[in-house]
Order: sequence, then C-alpha cells, then structure tokens
Amino acid sequence: MQKNIFKNISTDIVKVISKKNNEPSWMLEYRLKSFEKFQESSFEQSILFKKYNDFLTKLDLEDINFEGNNQETETEHRGRHINFLQVNNEIVEKNIENSNNVIITDINEAISKYPDIVKSHIEKNPIRDKFEYLADAIFQTGLFVRIPKDVKMLDTIRYINRQENTNSGIFNKNLIILEDNSDFNLFIEHYSSIKSQNIDSIFGYSEDIFVANNAKLSIIEMQLFNNNMISFMNKRTEIGKQSSVKLAVGYLGGKVSRSRSYSSLIGDNSTIQDLHLVIGTKEERHDLVTSICHSAKGTKGSVDVKGVLTGKSQMTLKGMNKIEKHAHDTDTFLGGHAILLGNKARANIIPGLEINNRNVKAKHSAAVAPIDEDLLFYMQSRSLDKNTAIKLIVTGFLESILKRIEVEAIKEQIAEMIKFKFDEMSLTTIQDEQEEILAVKGEFKKLCKLSEIQNGEMKNMLVDGKNILLSNINNKIFATGGQCTHEEVNLEDGFIVGEDITCPLHLSKFNLKTGKALNPPAIDELAVYNIKIQDEEIYIEID
Ligand code: FES
Repeated sequence: MQKNIFKNISTDIVKVISKKNNEPSWMLEYRLKSFEKFQESSFEQSILFKKYNDFLTKLDLEDINFEGNNQETETEHRGRHINFLQVNNEIVEKNIENSNNVIITDINEAISKYPDIVKSHIEKNPIRDKFEYLADAIFQTGLFVRIPKDVKMLDTIRYINRQENTNSGIFNKNLIILEDNSDFNLFIEHYSSIKSQNIDSIFGYSEDIFVANNAKLSIIEMQLFNNNMISFMNKRTEIGKQSSVKLAVGYLGGKVSRSRSYSSLIGDNSTIQDLHLVIGTKEERHDLVTSICHSAKGTKGSVDVKGVLTGKSQMTLKGMNKIEKHAHDTDTFLGGHAILLGNKARANIIPGLEINNRNVKAKHSAAVAPIDEDLLFYMQSRSLDKNTAIKLIVTGFLESILKRIEVEAIKEQIAEMIKFKFDEMSLTTIQDEQEEILAVKGEFKKLCKLSEIQNGEMKNMLVDGKNILLSNINNKIFATGGQCTHEEVNLEDGFIVGEDITCPLHLSKFNLKTGKALNPPAIDELAVYNIKIQDEEIYIEID
C-alpha cells in the first residue's frame, strides 16, 4: 500500500492559495479537481517502473508547510541582468517590457488579465503525472509566456528561482505558448539556501508548452539546489508542423530530483531535442523519465542523458520513445550513459522504444560503466595527476551535451556551474573507496558485509574496474558479471526467478550459478566468480 507522505495537504490549503490570489471560480474548480486527481493517482503509473519509486515512500514530509508564508529572505543574486527573480513563492523582480502583443508575465497576472487563454490551455492535457496534479492544485506563482504570430524574440529571457525557506513546499505553474512562426529562448536557474541541512524543503512545477507551426523554442534549465531540497519537475510539450524545440536540463544538486519530460510531435516535420545532464556527488537521487511520442510524418526526436556519479549518488533514467502507426519517415533516438566514479554510486538506465510503423529510423543506446582505466593510465603516463585526468575524461564525456548549447554566455555559465560541482566532488574519496576494496591482500578481495545483501536481493558493485553482480538466492551468495552480455545494461534492474536472472532490456535469461545465457538475444555467458564468506563479510576472487 502506498504511504501518504503528503497527508498535511488538504483542500483547505488549495482554497487558501486560490483566495490569496483573488482567483476566479473556474480556477479554484480546476485546482480542486487537480487535487482530487493527485490524491487518486499513484507515484508511478507504469508497472515496469514501479520498483524504482521507493525513495519517495521513504520520505517523511509531514512538517512541510505548503501555504507558503514567506520567512525572512535574502534577495541577493549574482548581479547579472535578469528578467525574473523568484524568491520562495513570489516573483519579486520583473524586468521586462512587453511589446508587439508579446505577453511575458507571472501566471497570477495572466489568470486575471487573460483568463480565456489560460483556461483553454491548462485544460488541454487531461492525463497528468501525480505531481503535475499537485502543482496544478497548489501552485503559487510561475511564468506565463505568449509569443504572437510572426514575432521572433532573439534575446534570451533569464529567470532565477531562489528557494530560501526551509520546511516549505512551493509549487509553480508555467504556461508557454508560441504561435505560428515565432521564436523564444528561456534560461532558468534554480538555487536554494543552506540554512538548515536537516530540514527538507520541496520545490516543484508543472510546465505546459504549446508550440504552433514553424516556430522555434529553446529552454535551458540548471538546478543547483542544496542537499535538503526535494524537487518535482514536470514538463509537457506539444509541437506543431515544421517547429523545433530544444530542451536542456542540468541537475547538479538537491536531495531527490524527480523529473518528467513528455513531448508530443503532433505536426509533420516537427523536431525535439531533449538533453539532460546529471552530476551527483554525495547522496543525491535523480529519478528521470523522458518520453517522446511521434504522431506525425517526418518528425525527429532525440533524448540524450549523461550522468556522472560519485559518492553514494544514484540516477535512474526510464525513457520511452514511441512511434505511432501513421508517423511515416520519422527518426527517433534515445541515449542514456553514465560514468560511475566510485563503488557506491549507482545508475539504472532503462530505455524503451515502441514502434508501430516500419518506415522509420529508431535507435537507442545505453551504458553504465566505471571510468576507462586504460585511458586513465594513458593520461597519467603523460604526467597528469589522477584527479586532473578524471576531470578531463568527465569533461570530454559531457561535451556532447554542452556543445549543443548555442548561446555562448549561457554555455560559459553552465561550464562555471559544472566546475563548481567538480570542485565539490571528492575525487580523493573516490580513490580511497576504490583502494579500500583493493586493500585486502591475498587471493580474495573484500566486497561488503553479508547483511547488505538479504535473501532475494542483488547489487551491482565495482571491483578493480569490473562490474560484478552479487545476488542472494535462498541465502546463497552468487557473484557474476554485472552487465548483460548483449548490451551494457546493469542486471541489477532485472528480475530473479529461481536461479535465473532476466535482463530488463530484451529479457535474455542467465543462470546465476553457471553464467550461461539461456535465451537470445544474449549469446555470451556471464563471468562467474568464486566467493567466500568470512566473519560475516563477503570476499570475491578476482584474476
Ligand atoms: S541488453 Fe539485450 S538482452 Fe540484455
């Protein structure tokens, strides 16, 4: 049964927020309906992904205040030119002049001045994620954009969101509408204060994006929250004929980041590029879902996710690109790659393609691996110290995402944020962790405590650069290669039945005792390792 970690939110809160903003009755009705849906829906709708949402049910958010009374705040920011500054639940600075019928303002003003536009668009997406419903029920502010036909806004609008309160729950609603033949660029930065590391806060939003025909949209978003912030980001994009949308999000902080990005290519020859970059250093949890649906001819969609994880950070990517029956000549790509810098970091990548038309191009690619030891050795032999060599390899790995950011000033700022994150990465800890495993002399190397793998559980671990799957079946421990021999997919995400494990991607089975591949597409067997248990610790024999 799903635990109710949001039992402190009630319809009273929904009503208080709506009243505070002097909203019309249709808006209150919409909020209440959304709240009802939020209560009814589960954390995860797909059965395939259900096992990955445990981290939410483990949270205790009873003391979070969702009414959003402002506490003492500092409104200091970095002195750059910005168009919108949000502090907690309010937009406190607005530097924008709207001309040519452009409307760029906060959502509350849009609800009172342009109710018809808001109403007709927010009701357009009937099926939503649980946290989109929540954001729609209790949002307090947000951005509203309408770029009329034939207007091209070449300058990038900059929006800074600073969350300064602790134990607060704040949600935004963004609505972005581009009419035919228009252009719009947006850069959003999210930060939070370090006032109390022990008290969690929540920030979330639901963003609806409508791009009509022959239009161009770019949204770049960087999240550098502190490690007491739990975030819920939900984005839905609908793209019309010949239009192109570029989305990029960097997740560089936070305690838990749950992100959902759903894109529908509904117009012929429309395109979407959806990029995500994750850098985890401590115990951050990043839970990403991406989805592209090709519903029209000649459409092009690509999702590219890159993660670099150290410490005990974790990332899960669940991607689905779908091509509908009549969407001829489409081209779709779904890529997820992660480098693990340390034996306690984790990444699970589950790419999915659903193809209902034969006349298309569809590719996916997924890999989770430790840093390339040969490359590291080569770079060290060229007199680079280990930390510098690791930083260079990681920068090269992320370059394919960064080079697609077109505005030079934004690219520089993102590089600066990544550098800040790199400095935070305790590379020495990574080395220490790896050396800890190598420290036990003799034939066998210590892996972990026996109590860490309970009956029926499994775990991927890195030992001497090798990815090992440790599993406990009926209180017997097995150690095999950790990745499927068909593609580089972690078997930890698979399913155990008897002594066999099923790969989560194309469902090949392997026997955990012998390593044998039992059905295609995997053909090669898994490596099998000897283990021994001594003083309640598990040791593995590695060549
Ligand atoms: S990745 Fe294809 S069967 Fe495992």
